[in-house]
Amino acid sequence: MARPKIALIGAGQIGGTLAHLAAMKELGDVVLFDIAEGTPQGKALDIAQSGPSEGFDASLKGANDYADIAGADVCIVTAGVPRKPGMSRDDLLGINLKVMKSVGEGIAKHAPDAFVICITNPLDAMVWALQKFSGLPANKVCGMAGVLDSARFRHFLSLEFGVSMKDVTAFVLGGHGDTMVPLTRYSTVAGIPLPDLVEMGWTTQEKLDAIVQRTRDGGAEIVGLLKTGSAFYAPATSAIEMAESYLKDQKRVLPCAAHVTGAYGLDGLYVGVPTVIGANGIEKVVDIALDADEQAMFDNSVNAVKGLVEACKGIEPSLI
Ligand code: APR
Repeated sequence: MARPKIALIGAGQIGGTLAHLAAMKELGDVVLFDIAEGTPQGKALDIAQSGPSEGFDASLKGANDYADIAGADVCIVTAGVPRKPGMSRDDLLGINLKVMKSVGEGIAKHAPDAFVICITNPLDAMVWALQKFSGLPANKVCGMAGVLDSARFRHFLSLEFGVSMKDVTAFVLGGHGDTMVPLTRYSTVAGIPLPDLVEMGWTTQEKLDAIVQRTRDGGAEIVGLLKTGSAFYAPATSAIEMAESYLKDQKRVLPCAAHVTGAYGLDGLYVGVPTVIGANGIEKVVDIALDADEQAMFDNSVNAVKGLVEACKGIEPSLI
């Protein structure tokens, strides 16, 4: 049987890391696509040359032509520009919307059966636009945010409790960014919910609140340290976890930006929710009960996402 084909649209910091991880995990053959000439080819060649030491069997190719992604099983999209000083939110939206248009058209033409994972920011609006521009079924287009946000939450919690990250589970809902909703009562250490751990004296509510805030600010903390560019190792790992669940039909329960209709009282909005990812893409949206405080935070997050989507419609009237 032929190996799966993984197309990475955008060969920047995250794209290159995705290619390296996909090859090392032997998820399939990799095509790195970018508009910059030489970059995807150079990264593909460099990673391929790590193969003899790593001992992986995967081919890597760099491309500037969408024809090279033909028949891809998975497309992971990081194409776009980051927000630069002096650039307004709408400037960024306008630029990355144009990028999503060209990417969506390229995928629709050459890889219409792919499972598509968008990473480009502002995430919830970009994945919504990408699904519209590509015309692919909504269950085959999703965005990576929740796996990363909950990984950050799990990391900080493991530091606080002094336990293995493997034993910490965490739940994050809502849009990617300041309004994300870390759900403490659904987050656990070896099955013990965080509020119980506060009662048991393992931590205090104040410390927990500070960890929640640090999780919300997780991306900005790294931007502040790096000074140029944003996080790329953990974002790439998170998207690879989602791609692997699809390719191997693992049916992992992973939070991601999914097209939600019906659940959570939503009507066709892309927002971070728990999902089941398997061979049919987003196979299920898990509709959990929220208490009044959680619902208020979720509504706030949904409104922020709706604001971005409306701004996209204002910039690109063909998106309705
Ligand atoms: N088509 C294809 N590639 C494009 C296009 C386009 N229309 N426009 C830009 N690119 C490429 C750039 O040439 C660059 O190589 O997208 C790549 C983006 O890479 P980086 O700038 O290194 O950004 P990265 O750190 O990988 O993040 C990508 O993910 O987390 C988000 O906010 C982040 O939106 C950003 C995206």
